Order: sequence, then structure tokens, then C-alpha cells
Amino acid sequence: MGFIVGIDGTAGSGKGTVAKNIANKLKLLNIDTGSTYRCVALAALRANAIKNGVIDEKKVIELLNKISIEIENTPSGDKVYLNGEDVTKKIREKDVSQVVSPVSSIEEVRYKMVDLQRKMAEGKDIIMEGRDICTYVFPNADVKIYLDASVEERARRRLLEMQEKKIEITYEEVLDNIIKRDNNDKTKKIGALKLAPDSIVIDTTNLSIEEVENKIIGIIQKKREKI
Ligand code: DC
Repeated sequence: MGFIVGIDGTAGSGKGTVAKNIANKLKLLNIDTGSTYRCVALAALRANAIKNGVIDEKKVIELLNKISIEIENTPSGDKVYLNGEDVTKKIREKDVSQVVSPVSSIEEVRYKMVDLQRKMAEGKDIIMEGRDICTYVFPNADVKIYLDASVEERARRRLLEMQEKKIEITYEEVLDNIIKRDNNDKTKKIGALKLAPDSIVIDTTNLSIEEVENKIIGIIQKKREKI
């Protein structure tokens, strides 16, 4: 087993950016597990397994054996492929964001994605970010971090991110989506966002990305010295 850094946290807490930058600096493979669930949600939308927000779970489960998901770390950011198609931008769009949390609550979806995530990590030094990394995917991770921030700050950050990607959305829509996702992410039966007892909590509301990165890098270096 390689060296594993797990980062869990709420939507917009900064885990995506922080994980990507730390991966670059410390030469770790960055695995954004949210993008695997986003791919399933996109595939489900395309296969009409979700209509007017109603999810046909049986159809989604059937789809699982027909899809392949790959994540490629590139200097300009991650590229995500669904059945060989580059869906990096599509999986961040509003329609996917609105349904991804309930899709990720389906038991079979979780088993399949967790299996995939563990395979992606096999034998490598990684930083993996998501919701259940430190509690379920890698409960024995070498470093465990939990990031959070106020809901208003997280909505502000997500809005900026989406505007940069030229996705049309208002602050109110983003805020509403984050509140709903928080609720669903924390209360779903399996794979819920929970704080592992041995995770280190960092509130990023008033911290810059760099400050958060430096804190985490410090924690990683301390741990590595002990190994
Ligand atoms: O990190 P993100 O916003 O891209 O994640 C998208 C959704 O996927 C999120 O609402 C919850 C779900 N998710 C999950 O259930 N478990 C993970 N390890 C990562 C994401």
C-alpha cells in the first residue's frame, strides 16, 4: 500500500482545489471521488434513468456495468472520461449537480464506485478527496483531514468556480443547491459525510487556499518523517 492522504469535507469547503495543488507539490496522484459519482449521474441523465428529478434506481443500477470511468491528472487540471468521452466540464453543470447526491446514495452505486476508487489508488501514493474517504474507503489512511466552511462562503466560492467555467447560475441557486446537498450528504444511509474520530478538522472560512495547503502539507510531512 502506498501513502494515503484522505480529505473529506462539505461541498465548497475547498477540498478539490487544495487536493489538486498538494498533489502537484508533493507528487501524489489526485483522486477526486466526487467526479466518479458525477459520471454516474451524467450517464443516468443521458439514459433517461432520471426524469424530472425522479430517479429510476433499477435503471441506474443496470447502467453501472455499462460504464467506464477514468481520471487523468494533467498539469492544467483533472480530465474525467466517461466511456472514453471527455466529460470534465459536463459533470460540473447544473443538471448533474442537482441529481448527483441522491444518485450517490444508491447502495449499488457506492459499492461499485468505492471499488473503482480503491483500484485507482492501488500501490500508489495518493491524495483522495470526497465524503467517506477517511471513514470508509480508506479508514487506515496515513493522514486524515476534514474541511469545512460556512455555507455562505462555500456558495460564494462555488459561484466563482462556475462563473470561471462559464456556467450560468445565480448565487441563490448555488446556495440552495449546497444546502440541499449538505443535508443529503450528511443524512444518507451509506457513504454519509461524517467526521472520522481521528481526522484533523480545518475550518477554511477565513483561510486562503494557500494557508489551508500549508497546514495540510505540514501535517503530511510530520507523518512522513515518522514512517
Ligand atoms: O465533491 P463533489 O461536489 O464533486 O461531489 C459530488 C457528490 O458526490 C456529492 O454531493 C456527494 C457525492 N460524493 C459522495 O457521496 N462520496 C464521495 N466520496 C464523494 C462525493
